[in-house]
Amino acid sequence: MSRLIVVSNRVSMPSPDGSQGGLAVALQAALRESGGLWFGWSGREVEEFNGSVSFEESDGVRSAVVDLEPQDVEEYYNGFANRTLWPLFHYRIDIAKYNRSFGSGYERVNKRFAEPLHVMIEPEDTIWINDYHLIPMASLLREHGIKNKIGFFLHTPWPPTRLLVSLPHHERLVRSMFGYDVVGFQTGEWLESFRHYCENELGGTIDGDYITVDGQRLRAVVCPIGIDFKNFIDSSETDLAHQLAERMRVSLRQLTMIVGVDRLDYSKGLQERLVSFEHLLNAYPDLHRSVVLVQVAPPSRGEVEQYRHVREELNELAGRINGMFAEVDWTPIRYVNRGYRREELTALYRAARVGLVTPLRDGMNLVAKEYIAAQDPEDPGVLVLSRFAGAAAQMQDALLVNPYAPEEVAEAIQTALKMPLAERKARFQTLREGVEKEDVHWWREKFVNMIEETETIR
Ligand code: ADP
Ligand code: F6P
Repeated sequence: MSRLIVVSNRVSMPSPDGSQGGLAVALQAALRESGGLWFGWSGREVEEFNGSVSFEESDGVRSAVVDLEPQDVEEYYNGFANRTLWPLFHYRIDIAKYNRSFGSGYERVNKRFAEPLHVMIEPEDTIWINDYHLIPMASLLREHGIKNKIGFFLHTPWPPTRLLVSLPHHERLVRSMFGYDVVGFQTGEWLESFRHYCENELGGTIDGDYITVDGQRLRAVVCPIGIDFKNFIDSSETDLAHQLAERMRVSLRQLTMIVGVDRLDYSKGLQERLVSFEHLLNAYPDLHRSVVLVQVAPPSRGEVEQYRHVREELNELAGRINGMFAEVDWTPIRYVNRGYRREELTALYRAARVGLVTPLRDGMNLVAKEYIAAQDPEDPGVLVLSRFAGAAAQMQDALLVNPYAPEEVAEAIQTALKMPLAERKARFQTLREGVEKEDVHWWREKFVNMIEETETIR
């Protein structure tokens, strides 16, 4: 069996308290089985980059990490990845920054990763690169003579051509992807945009899944990521989950809960969500003192100014709406800037009659799937989901909304709150079947198989 090498900006090993995300659980199972390796940034900074690799082993999985210097982190991670590509890939060209130093930092760090990585690769290894931080990795590995199968999975959207062309040197970035054998997207919409770009900007030809540009060919596919369904259900049966469930029961009393759980990111539509909730309170005064929105939003990427602005705006909005509607014994929004452990999240989701997942643009959105997985099948809650989340392609039985339209979102919340049990159950059952079947293991096996079975022409 070939060894799997997974490469991502962050290497996700279990934290000291033993918790880890669904992606890490799934990849670690595969890495353990294949004696594989997870390679990426350590998350640490050193004064001067020295290229040395630290190996760690945890729970049978080996990881190899490198430290970066402060200029790398600023130009590559805070710069090109999170000030240029992230907004651009989420259709926000109005806030994308195109500094030359970001582009050169991105290339430098990708080269710095490729240098030690290529030395570790053995001829039979399968290589899987993840996300927008590392788009040029395959072409850099090819320059080092690596002939192995290499796949790339993009966890974010791929933007329409007319937006992507605003990126200086966009052609160079996309051409570099032809070093991959397989490129995977979350939805057909992102795949279509990629194919459109290749045809119209690079003069490529398309034959089934295959795209050829100047004699180089790759296979571009849809392969939507899922959650670790079984692990999630198990987490909901732990002491930690039961403790938080009890705390919520006591604190909610007769209140009906609506929940939002997101990284604090402008792509998640958090300001629009709070405004929608304000519309709900204005439109339906009978909901006063009977509903509460619990919005959990841990700060993310705080070095980037746009993220600080969102945080300030949310503080202001939550304060204003609470100030306007609160009573001495009722606060409509509980706004919480911290993360919760997976076990606790299961209890939060389950306590909520409505799951509010309204990103303005999202590659997938796993919170939508987690909300469904956590529901009580006998009395399930209702998912209100943005039509602009990748998850909407698979979750058509949610109440799909336009997150830019606050009245529409408010109406959908009201519909969810009033939905009869039979309809809630029917929608839930279809959604749950999908989330259970197309889980993270299904995704990983499907994608790795595609990398391994795709014929290369190198
Ligand atoms: P993104 O990858 O953009 O952050 P997703 O919704 O796809 O968005 O994935 C987010 C993941 O992070 C989910 O697994 C979710 O449970 C987790 N997460 C989000 N907010 C929190 C939080 N407040 N506490 C703990 N985990 C969180
Ligand atoms: O899902 C998109 C993504 O950028 C992942 O690649 C990343 O691990 C996650 O969001 C959190 O972002 P960050 O690693 O910048 O904190």
